[in-house]
Amino acid sequence: MLDYITDKVQDENRQGEAFAPFATDPNQYRKLFYIESYGCQMNFSDSEIVASILNKEGFGATRNFEDADLVLLNTCSIREKAEQTVRKRLTEFKKVKEAKPGMLIGMLGCMAERLKSKLLEEEKLVDLVVGPDAYRTLPGLIIEAEGGQKAVNVLLSREETYADISPVRLDSNGVTAFVSIMRGCNNMCSFCVVPFTRGRERSRDAGSIIRECRDLFQKGFREVTLLGQNVDSYYFVDEVKDEIVTFAKLLEKVALISPLLRVRFSTSHPKDITDEVLHTMAKYENICKYIHLPVQSGSSRILQLMNRTYTREWYMAKVDRIREIMPDCGISSDIIAGFCTEEDADHKDTLSIMEYSGYDMSYMFFYSERPGTLAERRYKDDIPDDVKKKRLQEIVELQGRLSFASNTKDIGKTFAVLIEGDSKRSDHDWRGRSSQNKVIVFPKESYRLKKGDYVNVKVTACTQATLLGTIIN
Ligand code: 5AD
Ligand code: SF4
Repeated sequence: MLDYITDKVQDENRQGEAFAPFATDPNQYRKLFYIESYGCQMNFSDSEIVASILNKEGFGATRNFEDADLVLLNTCSIREKAEQTVRKRLTEFKKVKEAKPGMLIGMLGCMAERLKSKLLEEEKLVDLVVGPDAYRTLPGLIIEAEGGQKAVNVLLSREETYADISPVRLDSNGVTAFVSIMRGCNNMCSFCVVPFTRGRERSRDAGSIIRECRDLFQKGFREVTLLGQNVDSYYFVDEVKDEIVTFAKLLEKVALISPLLRVRFSTSHPKDITDEVLHTMAKYENICKYIHLPVQSGSSRILQLMNRTYTREWYMAKVDRIREIMPDCGISSDIIAGFCTEEDADHKDTLSIMEYSGYDMSYMFFYSERPGTLAERRYKDDIPDDVKKKRLQEIVELQGRLSFASNTKDIGKTFAVLIEGDSKRSDHDWRGRSSQNKVIVFPKESYRLKKGDYVNVKVTACTQATLLGTIIN
């Protein structure tokens, strides 16, 4: 079943290798670890924290899991399909382990938190189970597992933000990086398992965020994406400076590091994004004009069942406000097809709010019932799979038309593009992104440019997913 439609941001950030701390000499490290990440950007960011913790313990990273002493899967529970993928992968790892008995297999992330010791005790698929707030205890857990004990830590924390741990950039392109600014979520959307797997919301020390971003800039990075489940509720009281740092204030502080450092953020909850944030975005050229503003559904009745705390009209007014303050702002969305009790009329409301918002891009999903969520306890998952599939298909097709229309409107315009690397198809072309987060591919010609440079590109043609252009002097 078609369940998950391409994660553009993620793919585009998993390209180059400039800062990868992978072991070149196998004897350089005490042991080797292999880590594979699934799901949201937060998981990829967490894997970089884990890599840092392991590096300090003398573990080097390897790209080949057969060479590893420790194989880790950083897992996602958001939809059933994500969990099935991980289970399949674990069975593959288990086969390799049979020929290499000393190898340890560990499960990290949301699935570890959700299933706790089940995969260790009942199915014997893993040796270690570590939840998202327990990564500091990994070294001790590895020793326990090496000694044949059950190594499990799934304690959630109200304070842990890993603020003092400098992430080791895995598979980085050396230009763009994710910076985690908060953890957990207090929202309780009824379909969502995240509040149960990632715990209560907490904001990371603002000073440590600024230091990490400044350090990235000094190392040559030119774009940071501030990450959180709900960034607009970022709130930090700096007792030393006697200052309250809201998300708008944090954005401003990061933007002031350098005009050459682009700032992005994800994800915004429509109920929490403030005018102060929108005005701060408008004020600084280097804060990208792009908001990921998940709508989930266009029907007020369904939104209420989803516990999203806004109505259709309220969301539309938010889109109006964004366009009023930043007419050139890109907007994208997450959409769920076939939530409990959804009727054709609700589905039509979703299609029409997509048209109204004119999304440049969306992540589109079937509703997948998750154990323990409010929706699982209160409502019946009553929409048949074929109806979910048909509705999702309509949503995907409409988004295709909207993306193409949005890209077509850009033909003839010139954008400042941050070069991220060679295009996927040809090393004669560069690939970069506009402030609005659109991918632009253009010939290198004879200009002496490099990754991390900014260049003005005039758009000459487009597809649904990409703008094509030429460099303007
Ligand atoms: N079923 C389908 N999609 C889901 N999402 C979250 N939970 C579910 C679920 N149970 C989607 C939402 C969210 C995105 C990260 O994943 O659209 O914004
Ligand atoms: Fe899940 Fe809603 Fe929190 Fe997003 S805001 S992580 S959808 S509960």
